Amino acid sequence: MAWPVLQQLLLIAAATTAAASSSATTPDGPAPWPEQFHAVLFTNLTNVSIASTGPPLRLHDLYYDWPRRRNLNLIRHQLSGDPLYDVEWNNGTTFYFDSATCRTQQVPVGVLPPGWLADGGAVYLGRETTGGIDCRVWGKADFILYYEDALTGRPVRWNFLDVTGLQQFVMSFEVGVVLEDDDQWQAPAHCFLDEAAHGTNEDDDHLDEWQAAMLFRKLAGAAAAY
Ligand SMILES: *[C@@H]1O[C@H](CO)[C@@H](O)[C@H](O)[C@H]1NC(C)=O
Ligand SMILES: *[C@@H]1O[C@H](CO)[C@@H](O)[C@H](O)[C@H]1NC(C)=O
Ligand SMILES: *[C@@H]1O[C@H](CO)[C@@H](O)[C@H](O)[C@H]1NC(C)=O
Repeated sequence: MAWPVLQQLLLIAAATTAAASSSATTPDGPAPWPEQFHAVLFTNLTNVSIASTGPPLRLHDLYYDWPRRRNLNLIRHQLSGDPLYDVEWNNGTTFYFDSATCRTQQVPVGVLPPGWLADGGAVYLGRETTGGIDCRVWGKADFILYYEDALTGRPVRWNFLDVTGLQQFVMSFEVGVVLEDDDQWQAPAHCFLDEAAHGTNEDDDHLDEWQAAMLFRKLAGAAAAY
């Protein structure tokens, strides 16, 4: 009679071990980004002190287009009618403009590759529910916390761990959607004026916004380091 009891105990022990090890096991890795997508992001610059020169809440339309090596963030501040464009090209040029101002920067990295997180350097931090969605959480280079849907691998949220405290929540994610209209990507004439005539210095009113806009470039730099 002792034998079945022992067998049961062993089965329970085996099942418990399996459950414990499957929840403690690091998943294979985060999903790579699809090569093209359109995402609507709700953005909060949570460091109110650095966001004080501009409204901290924004809506971003992110058009990621890896085959054409370009990336566009169309940024709408809360209750502002004049959207900001942040256009990044693979040659390292970033244009950041609205209807009146423009800022350009040359950086030594191209557009963020689809494998920026999946191809190395991601640290698994465990499961967490955010916005009611069960997520796997990843960190990279002490620079970002990245939440992906545990079921689908789709991005749900990311927090940049820099002074802006920028947090983005993925409200929609459309794989394969491309912004075809080249006029939307084209930097306007006032981006090509004499450098001295428009500010590219670091101490202007939009520094916080510029820092926030440059975060994807910094991510690309961090990705390139692996
Ligand atoms: C934005 O972040 C700030 C600082 O963490 C927080 O107090 C505020 O509630 C957030 N706003 C929204 C709409 O999430
Ligand atoms: C990079 O490419 C963009 C888009 O074609 C162009 O406007 C920009 O002038 C280029 N930058 C450099 C440094 O060649
Ligand atoms: C928030 O911004 C201020 C002003 O730039 C900066 O001094 C501070 O370190 C930032 N806070 C965090 C937590 O990064």
